Amino acid sequence: MSFLAKSLSNIKPSPTIAVSMKAAELKAAGKDIISLGMGEPDFDTPENIKQAAIKAIEQGDTKYTAVDGSASLKKAIIEKLKRENSLEYKPSEIIVSTGAKQVIYNALIATLNHDDEVLIPAPYWVSYPDMVLLGSGTPVIVESSARNNFKISAESLEEKITAKTKWLILNSPSNPTGACYTEKELRALANVLLRHPQVHILSDDIYEHLIFDNFKFFNIATIEPKLKERVLLVNGVSKGYAMTGWRIGYGAGPQNLIKAMSVIQSQSTSCPSSVSQAASVEALNGTQEFIKPNAEIFQKRRDMVVAALNSIEGISCNVPNGAFYVFPSCKGLYGKKSISGKVILNDNDFAAYLLEEALVAVVPGIAFGAPDFFRISYAASEEFLHNSMQRIKDACNKLK
Ligand SMILES: Cc1ncc(COP(=O)(O)O)c(C=O)c1O
Repeated sequence: MSFLAKSLSNIKPSPTIAVSMKAAELKAAGKDIISLGMGEPDFDTPENIKQAAIKAIEQGDTKYTAVDGSASLKKAIIEKLKRENSLEYKPSEIIVSTGAKQVIYNALIATLNHDDEVLIPAPYWVSYPDMVLLGSGTPVIVESSARNNFKISAESLEEKITAKTKWLILNSPSNPTGACYTEKELRALANVLLRHPQVHILSDDIYEHLIFDNFKFFNIATIEPKLKERVLLVNGVSKGYAMTGWRIGYGAGPQNLIKAMSVIQSQSTSCPSSVSQAASVEALNGTQEFIKPNAEIFQKRRDMVVAALNSIEGISCNVPNGAFYVFPSCKGLYGKKSISGKVILNDNDFAAYLLEEALVAVVPGIAFGAPDFFRISYAASEEFLHNSMQRIKDACNKLK
């Protein structure tokens, strides 16, 4: 009898975390490694949010809260969704969890039965397929292409829907591509979804506040109110408010789904941290002044990184409208040889070459279901990025 659960046999640890750990290991061994694998803002949490947490500790706000989140945070979330997304929810339609990741996990575990299919547009965030597998569901990948800016079309969506499709996962702005769906593109997807009432939509909006070029963010439920009862909106404070370590995310959706997710949460983590919830109330209710300047900084970095990558022969990079990632192709370098004689045959080889030759850690596209590409996170200082782009350029120029 095997000691470990069978469900684990299909699951792999997060490859992005693995890259960061490998980079940290090499750094500890004295190598001057630059890691572009991180998925978190390099900014500090804003002062007003930190002060709210300190006050919460001093006031003794340090006990368990309601399983699905404190009343004050739920109120702040409801107001945020009304103010920014024109969506109305009741407290019973909101759950607060330990990061957006736990919201997604709860939702999939609460709904999937053996053989249920979940549509995942590729390139995808590394955790989606594994979470579906943990819930005994079947991930069904919907392909997109760089030509289409890594966005799926209404036709490709319709092709993959079957009677067994339970969810479509939408993530805009996207990790790993930074792609953002326009109002028109979401409308086209909504028209398909209206024809298939068995399909629910998990809309992962975690990068909502990181958008550039005056792009306008939309949730699909705002565009098509008839879909609202089938949408689980997922968001949180991690990325927009530089609060990755505070671990607060939230979900808004139909009451029966939220109730089922709360049951799972009650038997796993009980509730999210009370102090982090108090800080998140301030994040959502307090000044939003830093969001725009932060996005402007990221936009400037994006422009610099995209220009640098596109100046390298064999690499081509789209200009994304959001998040803090770029997803360039390295296909133009295939067949080339390093000084030590190693031939670059795929994105894994290329990422390994960059780590060895340039001492720069990037994540190969295969981890996101998109071979021939690699992901760079530009959540790092300009100086750091300049330095790493120069290293990548030098290493690529050495390939013959
Ligand atoms: C697309 C996407 N969704 C969800 C998450 C999880 O966010 P949180 O830190 O709130 O759990 C991440 C984190 O990297 C992400 O990239």
